[in-house]
Amino acid sequence: MASPSLQERARILLDKNIKSGQNYFYTAPSLRKYPHQWSWDSSFHAIANSCLGRVDLAQGEILTLLSSMCSDGRLPHLIYQGQGLTHKSSHWIRWYWPDPYRSPLVQPPVVALAVQKIWEQSEDLPFLKEILPLVEKHFGWLRVHRSSANSPLVSVFSPWESGLDHKPGFDRLLGKLSRLPLGLYIALYWLEWRLSKCGFEEGEIRRRRYFEVKEVLFNVFYALGLEALGKLFLVLGDRSKAEGLARLSQEVVTAILEQCYDPAAQLYFDIDGRTWTLVREPAISSLSPLALPGLPSSRREELIGHLTSKGEFWSCFPIPSVPLSSPHFRARGRLYLWRGPTWININWLIWEGLKRHGYLWLADELAHKTKKLVELSGFREYYDPLTGRGGGERDFSWSTLAAIM
Ligand code: GLC
Repeated sequence: MASPSLQERARILLDKNIKSGQNYFYTAPSLRKYPHQWSWDSSFHAIANSCLGRVDLAQGEILTLLSSMCSDGRLPHLIYQGQGLTHKSSHWIRWYWPDPYRSPLVQPPVVALAVQKIWEQSEDLPFLKEILPLVEKHFGWLRVHRSSANSPLVSVFSPWESGLDHKPGFDRLLGKLSRLPLGLYIALYWLEWRLSKCGFEEGEIRRRRYFEVKEVLFNVFYALGLEALGKLFLVLGDRSKAEGLARLSQEVVTAILEQCYDPAAQLYFDIDGRTWTLVREPAISSLSPLALPGLPSSRREELIGHLTSKGEFWSCFPIPSVPLSSPHFRARGRLYLWRGPTWININWLIWEGLKRHGYLWLADELAHKTKKLVELSGFREYYDPLTGRGGGERDFSWSTLAAIM
């Protein structure tokens, strides 16, 4: 249980980052650099707020997020609510987006876990009834538009969709541009421009073979989300829907365990959807199956071995986004993101997995070290895994998850 003062600090920060207007209410990731609404950030904020005893704020945030869902069920990865196009960071707005207020991409579907937390904390049945069909619609969209005939795993068409923007495994897949100075930024925008030429339509994107990755962390959230939806539909008494969702969740889990697994490394890697080969580049996503249900004990032990190895993921302030042994590891993620520093949203996910599988002492240890990061450096965007020094934005909202660990 977190000390009250850490929880209180988390509440104060989440309040400070609230953005609201006539028809929206959400928490910005940070007021300066990230003032808009991001899909997985908002879901993490809702999880934090629910567990901090503020279900009403969590509900407002998820309602706003889902109100921006497209009519076909796609949930945009970034939404310019209200102040949108006039805000000072509006240079990020891309004129080639079909809708200037909503990104044409998606992000990991953490929203189902947020709704599950809200339910657990409130047992608010009318809210659940209103919201669940919308969340299910988004998962249906992912299944139809992003899985393929040979696998239930879903694809991302841009590193931005994974939430792990500059993860080293993407470098090679992005081609030569990524090797230039600032090349990853150029490559990501160039890719998005080309996706726009395909109308962001999956058939055409696949035909042109620009970029298609069955990313492990995205699929872990997809499987966990399907599992959560199954349980929640059971609450609503819809047994056949619940069973269908639970079955699909199991299929996705099995596919991750079979198709993403590398027996030599005993880790999980993304699949390049164009060639159906593993991208053998260890990163935090390689450990994320630890959060899955039904993980055989031998596979659990392998992942725990990697997590607790001092030369890989068990740094002074775990969990580094890239293992310490990787040539890509940089403790201070100055230029590129997700290439070394510790991120608290991922620590929260792994912590949940450790509890699920009964590694309670390790879960406590991870929680303790995560809280220590906040004590030392505040709620930062990410942290140096060797020293605990904060990096990126200050007062970063999803780092309040430390207070509920
Ligand atoms: C960065 C992160 C992404 C996050 C966004 C807003 O782009 O890589 O995961 O959603 O910032 O916080």
